[in-house]
Amino acid sequence: MAGGIRIALIPGDGVGGEVMAEARPCLDWVVSRGRRLEVLDLPLGADHCLATGETLSDATFATLRDTCDGILFGAVGDPRIPDGHHAEAILLRLRQGLELAVNLRPCQPLLADQDRTIDIEVFRENTEGPYCLLGTTEPGRAVDLAVHTETAVRRLLEAAFRRAAALRRPLVLAHKANVLKHGHGLWVRIFEDLRRAMPTVEARTQHADALLCALVQNPRAFALIAADNYLGDLISDLCAAFAGGMGMAPSLSFAPHRPFRCNALAEPVHGSAPDIAGQGVANPVGMLLSTALLFRQLGWEAEAADLEGAVAGALAAGARTQDLGGSLSTAEMGQAIRSRLGA
Ligand code: NAD
Ligand code: IPM
Ligand code: MN
Repeated sequence: MAGGIRIALIPGDGVGGEVMAEARPCLDWVVSRGRRLEVLDLPLGADHCLATGETLSDATFATLRDTCDGILFGAVGDPRIPDGHHAEAILLRLRQGLELAVNLRPCQPLLADQDRTIDIEVFRENTEGPYCLLGTTEPGRAVDLAVHTETAVRRLLEAAFRRAAALRRPLVLAHKANVLKHGHGLWVRIFEDLRRAMPTVEARTQHADALLCALVQNPRAFALIAADNYLGDLISDLCAAFAGGMGMAPSLSFAPHRPFRCNALAEPVHGSAPDIAGQGVANPVGMLLSTALLFRQLGWEAEAADLEGAVAGALAAGARTQDLGGSLSTAEMGQAIRSRLGA
C-alpha cells in the first residue's frame, strides 16, 4: 500500500520460521485495524545461502535500509554452516549497517508462579565490542579484538539515561573496567559524564561479575541495566530465565539518531534452536512480544499494548508450550494468543 509503513519479514533458520509464522497474522490484524502496511518477505538464511551462495546482498541491504521502516526477524544459525558466516553476514550486518546501537531487551515475567515484581530492561550496545569481528587465529594463539567508540557508547548510554529519567527508575552500568581498562574505561567515563549531566537519574556502576551474582540473588533490585555488546548478550539471556526461558524474551534494536528510514529490528532473544527445530514445539511468545515492540517503535501504541495484553492473557489462562511445562504446539500457542485479539 503506497505511503504506508513497510515491514520486511526475515524468518531465517530453524525455529525462526516457526515462530515467524505466528507473528505474520498479527500484521494482517493491524491492517484490519486500519493501519496502512506493506510486507516484504525475504527468505534469507541458511537454505538460501546454501542454494545460491548469497547471504545478504548489497542491493537487498539497500532495499531494507531505504525502503522499509522496520524488520521482523526470526533467528539465524544452522548446523550445515558451522562457522556461522551467513548469520554474521545477515544479522550483524543489519545491526551494524543500520547503526542500531541500542538493543532493548525487556524482562517482565508473566507467569502466575513467577515473581511478577521483576521488571528489568537491558540496554545492550548492538554494533561494537568483540562483534566487530576483528581477530586472527595464529599458530599457538588466537586474538579477538573489541572496539568501543565514543559515538556508539554515548548513543547507548544516552538512550538508557533518557529511559531511566522517563521511568524514574535506577540505572546500573555493568562493566569490567578493572580489567578492560581501555574499552570499559571509556564506558565508565562516559557514564560518569552523563551521571553529572543528569543528576536526577539514580545511576551507578558495578563490576559485571558481582552484578550477575546480585542479579540472580535479588532480581527485583534491578531496573535498567546498560552494558556493552558482549556483556549485554549474557545478561539478557540470564534475564530470560526469570521470565521462563529463551522462548519468552523479546528484543528491539533501534538507532536513536535515526540515520535511515529503517530504524527498527525486532527479534526474539533466542536463536534457531536446532535441538527442537522442525517439531512445531517452539514457544512463539518472545517473537510475539518482539512484534509488539516493533508496533510501539512504529508509533502503534494501542496495537502494541493489545498484543502484549493478549500474550499475558493467554499465559494467565494457562496456555503453555512444552518449554513452559505445557503441551501446546507453536501454532496452538500462537492461536491462543491471537484469538484474544480477534485475529
Ligand atoms: P538457542 O537460543 O537457539 O537455544 C538455546 C536453548 O533454548 C535450546 O535448548 C533451545 O531449544 C531453547 N529455545 C530457544 N528458543 C526457543 C523457543 N522459541 N521455544 C522453546 N525453546 C527455545 O541458542 P543456541 O542453541 O546457543 O544457538 C543455536 C543457533 O542459533 C546457533 O547457530 C546460534 O549462533 C544461533 N543464535 C542466533 C540468534 C539470533 O538469530 N538472534 C540468537 C542466539 C543464537
Ligand atoms: C543474540 C545472538 C547473537 C548475538 C548471535 C547469533 C550473533 O546470541 O541475538 O543474542 O550474540 O548477538
Ligand atoms: Mn544472545
